[in-house]
Amino acid sequence: MKKADVILGLQWGDEGKGKVVDVLTPRYEVVARFQGGPNAGHTLEFGGEKYILRSIPSGIFQGGKTNVIGNGVVLDAILFRAEAEELAKSGHDLTKQLCISKKAHLILPTHRMLDAAYEAAKGSAKIGTTGKGIGPTYTDKISRNGMRVGDLLSPDFKTLYAKAKARHEAILRSLNYDYDIAELERQWFEAVEYLKRFRIIDSEYFINKCLDENRPVLAEGAQGTLLDVDFGSYPFVTSSNTVCAGVCTGLGLAPKRIGEVYGIFKAYCTRVGSGPFPTELFDETGAALRRIGHEFGAVTGRERRCGWLDLVALKYSIMINGVTQLIMMKSDVMNDFDTIRVATAYDIDGERTTEFPYTITEGLKPVYTDFPGWKCDLRNCRSYDEFPPAFKHYVDFIERETGVPVKIISVGPDRGETIER
Ligand code: GDP
Ligand code: IMO
Ligand code: MG
Repeated sequence: MKKADVILGLQWGDEGKGKVVDVLTPRYEVVARFQGGPNAGHTLEFGGEKYILRSIPSGIFQGGKTNVIGNGVVLDAILFRAEAEELAKSGHDLTKQLCISKKAHLILPTHRMLDAAYEAAKGSAKIGTTGKGIGPTYTDKISRNGMRVGDLLSPDFKTLYAKAKARHEAILRSLNYDYDIAELERQWFEAVEYLKRFRIIDSEYFINKCLDENRPVLAEGAQGTLLDVDFGSYPFVTSSNTVCAGVCTGLGLAPKRIGEVYGIFKAYCTRVGSGPFPTELFDETGAALRRIGHEFGAVTGRERRCGWLDLVALKYSIMINGVTQLIMMKSDVMNDFDTIRVATAYDIDGERTTEFPYTITEGLKPVYTDFPGWKCDLRNCRSYDEFPPAFKHYVDFIERETGVPVKIISVGPDRGETIER
């Protein structure tokens, strides 16, 4: 029986999922997003061009593959249309390659307003969301008030919309939030019509049938495990299950149909938005990671917070997801560093632990192991054998600590700058 492989982030997002999905797509026939929405920003680089995908799966550029937006995704028709039209300009006609689940939930214009209003109401405790309406849309899904892509085909669509809008407007009034959505609403109604050009399908049947027919499927995650609504640094998280279990609910796959679980991590750590980050660096090293790694949000342009690799958090993520293979990104960013640090435990008010705690408080201090830097340009290496001993030593240490092999190492943003072992 064919099983679906999964690629997902093990940190706070932006690990490089888009790049790796694009690299691995030639081995699959179907690439499917299982959760998240346009809060994602997945960067792909090849042929001297750079593309940023938000809602469209990252398998779209490797011709002839079917890309699926699964039921677990929340879709903003306006942003989706802009993304699809941009790709059409560069010669990618998505209507043949892209299917959308009937059960994916729609982000309404008022969901974006609610996102902003809730953030404003939180004051200094704000989450720092991407402002795309993600939380309010998933809230409506769980409270059984949502609108789904399949509703587009219903004669009651406008009535459903009016009811949802009225409900949202009452909340916005209670929060004293001023807004004007007339233009956004006009664009939204045009954009939902545009969605009808794509195949709107029962994606759970489609994907299970593909596997029955031995057609390989890759499930693409958005965000990262530490942003998962159950296991992340709650409440500073996104509103979906970013972990492997999210593949089952977000695509309609039974647990026994999950195959390889590729866990992606950066050789250091980043985070956008608020919330705890034990190994965060506020010094010149943190600034160097940001500068050399171009650590600015693909969606919002916000500065990403940077810090050392955190193995306590990484091992936690590996456990939750059942990771079978690791993929390490962006080691090249630390080419010139004299010393590279890795957190292997936390000291919490004098007690040492290797478990990721329920809350991360001021009293938590990472315990570091130091490694000498490799001090050469990894981007020139084209096979694992060409890597310098200091770098191999660093990789061996991560494998030993986690018990999972590092199978792919990325040393630059381009498709070609990828080394497999
Ligand atoms: P995603 O959200 O997980 O797909 O990751 P993002 O695209 O938001 O962020 C990853 C960034 O790192 C993008 O700008 C990529 O082009 C870039 N990138 C990916 N892999 C590497 C790498 O190995 N080295 C360097 N220097 N940059 C990389
Ligand atoms: P990709 O797929 C990094 C963060 C936001 C905020 C929190 C909640 O590119 O890795 P939301 O808008 O989801 O309600 O925001 O989650 N966040 C991300 N951070 N990468 C992402 O996606 C993210 N998607 C959401 O910054 O802290
Ligand atoms: Mg990103």
